[in-house]
Amino acid sequence: MALRTDQDKGGNLHKYIDIEGKRFPLVIKEEIVRNIPNIKLREDDVIICGYPRSGTHWTFEMISMLLAGRDETIPMWKGKMMLSVAPARDLDLAPSPRVLNTHLFYEELPRDITTLKNKIVYVLRDPRDVAVSFYHFYINNKTGVDYRGAWRDFLELFMNGEVQWGSWFEHVKNFEDVIKTNRNGQQILVMNYEDTKQNPKDSVSRLSDFLGLPRSDELCSRIADKCSFANMAVDKLQYTLLSDNRDIMYRKGVVGDWKNMFTVAQSEMFDRLLTHNMADSQLVSRYITKPSS
Ligand code: A3P
Repeated sequence: MALRTDQDKGGNLHKYIDIEGKRFPLVIKEEIVRNIPNIKLREDDVIICGYPRSGTHWTFEMISMLLAGRDETIPMWKGKMMLSVAPARDLDLAPSPRVLNTHLFYEELPRDITTLKNKIVYVLRDPRDVAVSFYHFYINNKTGVDYRGAWRDFLELFMNGEVQWGSWFEHVKNFEDVIKTNRNGQQILVMNYEDTKQNPKDSVSRLSDFLGLPRSDELCSRIADKCSFANMAVDKLQYTLLSDNRDIMYRKGVVGDWKNMFTVAQSEMFDRLLTHNMADSQLVSRYITKPSS
């Protein structure tokens, strides 16, 4: 493990912890990361996977409420159940059913996944909104990142997969490949951030069905409301990540904020990269701007 400090194109420092070539936030502990393959899973564990800033806190809240059968705020930060953050002994002590969550790739999950085949919910969001959200997180998170660079330089790091947690493109390709090849007979539900925004109750219902829970339309509706951005930004304030005493997890919670940050040239460059890099991806096609005829 090593603390690395690179420079972005504008000359600003870009720091991360390097463990076997993978880039982690500065607060990550090496022994926890190295022990992830040995973590003991339980049959009823659900695992939320997704690239950072894709809506994993939101998904954690919806799933946890569904499993609890109540529309009450979960009195916990999801980091407490995050692989690479939570020590194995804390996870061992957590009551079932556990909602584990991670930004890791499929192959980096605990080894038990191959025998227990836990249900995975994969959270996917427009990569342009992910990039914008991640940039604000980079700028505001003094302990985990401590970055002062400009948007254009961050965007380049993001497009090159040089940010903490690695490449968004590779992350999506990785899980899409697991789905396409039916690897390990793994059950994976893909949840698009934009769909949940548009019809939150529908998404909660899909999650409920995927988890094999008896469907209560009324409960799904109440959970969808309770997990709205406006409610979570207030209700979760005591269970969030702070930097300089400010919450850095709940920012805007909207679709399309990228239009406020990307220049036309950046948007075209991003589209070219998506088209070039993800030509075979069914998951990503909805995020590629179609040329107007
Ligand atoms: P923005 O920075 O665009 O606002 P993650 O939880 O995976 O780290 O993702 C964080 C992003 O999800 C942030 O996006 C955050 O505001 C948004 N978010 C968190 N809770 C939300 C909710 N209940 N509804 C919509 N977006 C939410």
